[in-house]
Amino acid sequence: MSKHSIVCLPGDGIGNVVLEEAIRVLNAAGFEAEYIEGDIGWKFWCNEGNPLPQRTLDLIEKYKIGLFGAITSKPKDEAFNELSPALQKKNLVYSSPIVGLRQHFGLDICLRPCRTYSGNPLNFIRRGPNNSIEEPEVDVAIFRQNTEGLYGGVEWSNPPPNVYDALMSHPKFSQNFGNAPVEEVSVSTRIFTKKYTERIVRAAFEHAKKYKYKSVTVCEKPNVIRETSGMMYKMAQEIQKADFSDIELWNTNIDAQMMWLTKNPENYGVIVAGNMFGDIVSDGFAGLIGGLGFACSAQYNPESGIGVFEPTHGSAPKYADYTTSIVNPIAMVESACMMLDFIDEQDIAEKIRKAVANVVIEGKVLTYDMAKMSGRSDVIDKGAASTVQMADAIIEKL
Ligand code: NAI
Ligand code: MG
Repeated sequence: MSKHSIVCLPGDGIGNVVLEEAIRVLNAAGFEAEYIEGDIGWKFWCNEGNPLPQRTLDLIEKYKIGLFGAITSKPKDEAFNELSPALQKKNLVYSSPIVGLRQHFGLDICLRPCRTYSGNPLNFIRRGPNNSIEEPEVDVAIFRQNTEGLYGGVEWSNPPPNVYDALMSHPKFSQNFGNAPVEEVSVSTRIFTKKYTERIVRAAFEHAKKYKYKSVTVCEKPNVIRETSGMMYKMAQEIQKADFSDIELWNTNIDAQMMWLTKNPENYGVIVAGNMFGDIVSDGFAGLIGGLGFACSAQYNPESGIGVFEPTHGSAPKYADYTTSIVNPIAMVESACMMLDFIDEQDIAEKIRKAVANVVIEGKVLTYDMAKMSGRSDVIDKGAASTVQMADAIIEKL
């Protein structure tokens, strides 16, 4: 019997090919596991009316570790129209299965590392003194609260009377919004709870300690969003003082942070933020180290030990049907490495990361994004590496 059992969730579009290639790399690196395939994605919505069937939830519950490719989501009307005719009478509403997974298993900790690979032609460069060109080395780990905040789904348009009355009892609401007709009011809440705020902040500090980062930055907006951002920052101050006094605590506002992104990205270490700001700041940093072909993530629940590992990119449907796949598998391979870290197989993870680094620094094998081509099917003829060729190159370096 294999030491590990992994639920693989290819999903839609390019999710299928990048996951297959990542598993090939894992096998070649000597990772011993059995893979159990879980159903997720558009096909299951269309045919069963549920993109995240219960049997898939059961598999993840049982095996605890999921390796996920990507899914396709479409707007409400399109989703309805593509539902099989028999199901269209059933009043089903589509919702994203990856968001569903996060909520179902309470995968509240999301980690998105962004690290520069030397030699990556997509690395951010900037002008330094005397017109010099600088290539700052980025190494940040972004901890994004994954279940609460603005993406928590507690929202109304034309709020019901009890909600509206409660809002009216707040002086700022009655003053600033009280004149708007209730049917013209939409509200999306931003709820933070102490338990989960503490968990994400602690996870950030523990990561900083383990990997020797010198600072943790709370990237929120406590001067304006006083209650939620304010709570996170205050909690970070307390935690730092009590348990991590040798790690510096920095505080930046999300808007200013986005401006500083290109000014001094090399100064940041661990960053912690709520759901939406974490989403934003992690995309910002990902852009500096190669974009979607390089952006990986882990999401897990520290209590249950359930973790799902996935590239940040989606299913890229326009490339899904190319006879030879052109997309970059590195984001998926890196996500698989994060899975290995999580299940205490760091040695294999490091081996794979070194192999990727060697391929990138050598600069001979470049997928179309790294070669700065636009993603058409003829990029292979023009010298870009295919998805499979990139995985082959990584395997060769192992
Ligand atoms: P996307 O991430 O699928 O693709 C955007 C563009 O980024 C692509 O057209 C391509 O140019 C580039 N790209 C993406 N992955 C790449 C890779 N591995 N290598 C090289 N280039 C890559 O986002 P898009 O087009 O906004 O959404 C497509 C579908 O994916 C939608 O249905 C969306 O809802 C879904 N989606 C799913 C996510 C998930 O499964 N976690 C996340 C984001 C989008
Ligand atoms: Mg995003």
